Amino acid sequence: MTLLPDTWRWFPQARYGLFIHWGPYAQYERGEQVLFRERLDHTEYARAACAWQPEYFDARQWAKIAVDGGFRYAVLTTRHHDGFCLWNTATTDYSSAAQAAGRDFVSEYVEAFREAGLRIGLYYSLADWRIPAYWEGPRHDPNGWAQFRDYCHQQVRELLTNYGQIDEFWFDGSWPRNAHAWQSQELVAMMKSLQPDLLVNNRLDSIDPEEGQAEWQKGAVENAGDSKQLGDFGTPEHHITADAWRPWESCQVSTWRLWGYTRGERWRSADVLLDMLCEAASKGGNLLLNVGPQADGRIPPEFAARAEQIGDWLRVHGEAIYGCQRGDVVEFVTRGWQTRKDNDLYLILRFWDGREAMTIPGLATRVRRATLLSNGQELSVQQNDDVLTLSGLPHLPPTPLFPVIKLKGEAPFEAQPWARERLWGGNPRRMTEWARQRGNSVWADGQPR
Ligand code: GLC
Repeated sequence: MTLLPDTWRWFPQARYGLFIHWGPYAQYERGEQVLFRERLDHTEYARAACAWQPEYFDARQWAKIAVDGGFRYAVLTTRHHDGFCLWNTATTDYSSAAQAAGRDFVSEYVEAFREAGLRIGLYYSLADWRIPAYWEGPRHDPNGWAQFRDYCHQQVRELLTNYGQIDEFWFDGSWPRNAHAWQSQELVAMMKSLQPDLLVNNRLDSIDPEEGQAEWQKGAVENAGDSKQLGDFGTPEHHITADAWRPWESCQVSTWRLWGYTRGERWRSADVLLDMLCEAASKGGNLLLNVGPQADGRIPPEFAARAEQIGDWLRVHGEAIYGCQRGDVVEFVTRGWQTRKDNDLYLILRFWDGREAMTIPGLATRVRRATLLSNGQELSVQQNDDVLTLSGLPHLPPTPLFPVIKLKGEAPFEAQPWARERLWGGNPRRMTEWARQRGNSVWADGQPR
């Protein structure tokens, strides 16, 4: 990966962000796309949106949940595909500020989160399902399209002008138009002239029409609109896959599928959510974990409880996540994840087997010290060329979620040559000698008959 500018360093440092999908759709309690998915009547939807009054919305409370949960930044939907704006915009009266609520939610969010020491992200959907020209596109309605596109550019300008420093801007919904139609390059240039340190995501579609087309044709809607040329960071959605040439952030739901509040949805358990955070960190990326607050402005208690559990874990084990680099030093997939920082290797264990000793084969680097981070206990270390043995481990799990062992090395950790490639990688012949030590026949003793 290319070297990051200093002003972007906070992003990989942070590792853990809170995605907030909130808008008038929350009133329907059937996800953020209810308008389209149920082909609702536009007029009725707009009436409900304009009447929306989230009486319990308190941005400070949200920020507290985020801070206690160990999140380092947040991204709020300022406008989703339904086109309703959560800020005081001069471009339309279809906003929380101009309608019943009479409040600029973006401003309340920005202020409270910034005050709490969190970095600020704004999500913005280019798609606006209310607008015929959006569906018609530039070929069939060139004037309507140009007006609509300018409206979007103008809104982005407002968001980057009226709310102080914004750290991350999260486009979505470029479908089905390409970067040319959106004038994405001009848009980014304008954004960077307003906020030079801003990180912009990769969903402004491709400048290369063929690359964009291919993505749409694959029908890979989850990642459609991802651009390889535009965007400071990648946004894998519902999966955790490293982007080879830029920072990335995997966005994930905390329920099963939807982003907006959905009544009765199942919640993923705290260990499943924490596992995603550890996986992202171990692969060198961030996790942007979503919550869909209720229509009345409250964060669902199920989410708050899970966030708190993970926050408690991070208070003790955070050094294994924040600011860590990808750590895939030795085979560890059966136990959990590894992350690295300078000469330290963190072993994040998904479960505790209660054994007094643990062996880790394949490390080439000498270990100076091993500590069970969960309770501060020093472990005894024995190491020969191939195998590290840690002993003195407690019988009972030292923490309710994932225990972490911190290894201090003499140098940055590396694996033995044989352990670098995993079973299905590398040249299989590297293992021949290992097998030959047993003999060279199918018989139990390896000897010829
Ligand atoms: C998809 C969905 C959208 C959601 C987004 C989050 O693009 O269409 O509803 O906001 O994913 O990444």
